[in-house]
Amino acid sequence: MRPVPTREDKFSFGLWTVGWQARDLFGEATRPVLAGVEAVHKLAELGAYGITFHDDDLVPPDSTATQRDTIIKEFKAALAETGLVVPMMTTNLFGDPVFKDGGFTSNDRGVRRYALRKVMRNMDLAAELGAEIYVFWGGREGSEVDFAKDVRAALDRYREGIDLLAQYSIDKGYNMRFAIEPKPNEPRGDILLPSIGHALAFISQLEHHEMVGINPEVGHEQMASLNYTHGIAQALWQEKLFHIDLNGQKGPRYDQDLVFGYGDLLQAFSTVDLLENGAPGGGPTYDGDRHFDYKPLRTEDMAGVWESALANMELYITLRERSNEFRADPRVQEALEEAGVAALNEPTLNAGESYEQLIADPSTFESYDIDAARTRGYGFARIQRYAIEHLLGVNGPKEA
Ligand code: GCO
Ligand code: MN
Ligand code: MN
Repeated sequence: MRPVPTREDKFSFGLWTVGWQARDLFGEATRPVLAGVEAVHKLAELGAYGITFHDDDLVPPDSTATQRDTIIKEFKAALAETGLVVPMMTTNLFGDPVFKDGGFTSNDRGVRRYALRKVMRNMDLAAELGAEIYVFWGGREGSEVDFAKDVRAALDRYREGIDLLAQYSIDKGYNMRFAIEPKPNEPRGDILLPSIGHALAFISQLEHHEMVGINPEVGHEQMASLNYTHGIAQALWQEKLFHIDLNGQKGPRYDQDLVFGYGDLLQAFSTVDLLENGAPGGGPTYDGDRHFDYKPLRTEDMAGVWESALANMELYITLRERSNEFRADPRVQEALEEAGVAALNEPTLNAGESYEQLIADPSTFESYDIDAARTRGYGFARIQRYAIEHLLGVNGPKEA
């Protein structure tokens, strides 16, 4: 039976995803403009819950104030009609040539001041539309020439910008939470805050660090050969997984933004397993919208666009079902137990034990059976095998 997405699944799409006209570095657009109103209706029809957008996706940058008002009014009417929500909004600080050296971190101070104004204007709209998450993807914050960008100063300006906008949200009573989206490169040769780890470290330096988390994208971590599931696990551990960009990527190459799972499918499975069921030893799950940030293939017409939008949701639901079956399988539970997966939750020292007591305990060193530990098998191979079986839906016989 084909999975059917519903509002309860909390799936959302960027307007720039289904609305991508497929203009790339080597060729012109292959698809027509998709109006925001039409995207809202179509996504609602497919069973999505939300739509997200950059300021410029909804309102073309050269619009007059009256045109802007009309577009927003019509968009709001479509939301009201369909019940679709806007869980997240963001700013385009990369398309306009003014941002060629970045927004918050451009060497040109006038650009930096303009960038802040552009964000504030869109935050006002985000508050009006009820968006609770505001994303910062610094695509142009970076450089190609190491000697031309003072990274220390750029990080100072980045922090200044985020701190100021956080203060703006607080003062206006918007209660937004910010989510920084890491990416290693593209469009800049090197982008600042290139990975989940860099972004988390940066956040710890912010004045309002408690209201800033991350929006990690599958493909962006995989472009840097990093393990996405591990990355979001750390973000959950630090209570910083504020939002998520799901898509697919085939290893370290240009940013492909494929349909979710259409790259490293096994890792997509472990990602959904973590998001939905938490760490195997317990721990928080993700409760925000399941946001797809993908690009429909350039070869497709609008029918192919909607087909691929559905494919993201269907695959997510399938992986969620497979994860539930995996967790419920007694063979898996036994294998996890044998592998000591939950045992890792036990603190290494006893309650109240000091390092003096650890040193005084000969079983930890002097009489420790090191050979037994050297030669034991952990049984991870069995867990991997079961995971693959569940992923493929070819679970072996119970006694296997
Ligand atoms: C990318 C990025 C962008 C951002 C989006 C939000 O694929 O390089 O993911 O799509 O997520 O622009 O600002
Ligand atoms: Mn993204
Ligand atoms: Mn991407």
